[in-house]
Amino acid sequence: MPTDASPTRDLRFPEGFLWGAATAAHQIEGSPMADGAGPSIWTRFAHTPGMTLNGDTGDIACDHYNRWKDDVALMRELGLKAYRFSVSWSRIHPEGIGRVNQAGVDFYSRLVDELLANDIEPLLTLFHWDLPAALDDKGGWLNRDCADWFAEYGTTLYRALDGRVKKWVTLNEPWVITDGGYLHGALAPGHRSRYEAPIASHNLMRAHGAAVQAYRAEGKHEIGLVVNIEPKHAASDSAEDEAAVKRAHAYMNEQYLHPALLGRYPPELAEVFGDAWPEIDPVDFDLIRQPLDFVGINYYTRSVTRADASYPLRAGGVRQPGATYTETGWEVFPMALTELLLWFKDTYGDLPLYITENGAAFFDPPVAEGGRVRDPLRIDYLRKHITAVHDAITAGVDVRGYMAWSLLDNLEWSLGYSKRFGIVHVDYGTQQRTPKDSAHWYSGVIASNGRALADPLPY
Ligand code: BGC
Repeated sequence: MPTDASPTRDLRFPEGFLWGAATAAHQIEGSPMADGAGPSIWTRFAHTPGMTLNGDTGDIACDHYNRWKDDVALMRELGLKAYRFSVSWSRIHPEGIGRVNQAGVDFYSRLVDELLANDIEPLLTLFHWDLPAALDDKGGWLNRDCADWFAEYGTTLYRALDGRVKKWVTLNEPWVITDGGYLHGALAPGHRSRYEAPIASHNLMRAHGAAVQAYRAEGKHEIGLVVNIEPKHAASDSAEDEAAVKRAHAYMNEQYLHPALLGRYPPELAEVFGDAWPEIDPVDFDLIRQPLDFVGINYYTRSVTRADASYPLRAGGVRQPGATYTETGWEVFPMALTELLLWFKDTYGDLPLYITENGAAFFDPPVAEGGRVRDPLRIDYLRKHITAVHDAITAGVDVRGYMAWSLLDNLEWSLGYSKRFGIVHVDYGTQQRTPKDSAHWYSGVIASNGRALADPLPY
């Protein structure tokens, strides 16, 4: 399937295609304890020596908590039709459950009003990794009560915002939450346990189901789940490598979608986790498998997988000679985005899909005199990936929107401020925002509903 934009191709997207950009609360807001908010596990984690690169924290980040109005004005200037953001749970319920902090609700309510006043559709993610610390003290995602906690928190927001927010997401990337937070420990809460990881995953899916159920009781619009998918390709055609690919695929890609959409786990998981795979009560799938209005897919890269006794519990794939890698070490491989969208349709049927994140960190040059940031590699990445989405739509997949990751350079979790994913450059000293060339280019793509993808690049 061709993924190269060329002047002869008509790359216009379906009418009403939702073009946007995405962020997450902890990565941009700053002021995590302002106006009565409680601490989250990320505030704790980043303040623990040695957990993040250079000891970077989200205390200031992009100061979006104070600059949200200007940031919405910037989105408007760029012509975004949608903005995907997340809510910080502990601003809403400082103790995780119970008492509501109205000032926290008001912050998001104002943001949503401002988006709507600027004709930008809000896509709200309930949970993008910043669990209230008070709930972590009770065991966090290892405690089965988390399903009730999450439904309670969701209900607070549904009641406050459902008239205005029409697209809701329960969890962002459950795989990263458990692989990073409970298995490898690189992300908060920093646990390293093969035994905890599948329990946390299962409880996350129970919480997802409970939040969808609560939404059906309160909300009138759409709710879905966001997963990160990484197609797994075999390093060779040996039977061992093929089997490793199946396990890696089950571990990363099917571990969440299978229970949410099919009501079961893929059989390979028991093999992946060995004696750590827990006994699952089949009744739990009644909660987990709820009808969804859409699924959001975050795509960054593929992985070339080789048989390895410890795989996938040890991260890593095989580097490809001649390939381009981003600054996070991820291979640029746009064709796999088309492949995974086709796989989704074949496996789970015709559900509306959104690309809820896609983008790349590259070393950008400093802002030049006159305020220009040349980022040709990012333009090339986005152009090829958006074209790959178009290929999937042409092949019959119902993709309804695309959100670039990220609107702003921001806090890349434990990698701190060292990686820049934004289409807008942020000077962390002055908080000055400067749209990079990729932002201007993306504006043109949005304004032409994709047609400009085929235009010659500005370099
Ligand atoms: C996450 C973002 C993150 C991005 C780049 C995704 O896994 O949802 O929060 O910044 O990837 O690593």
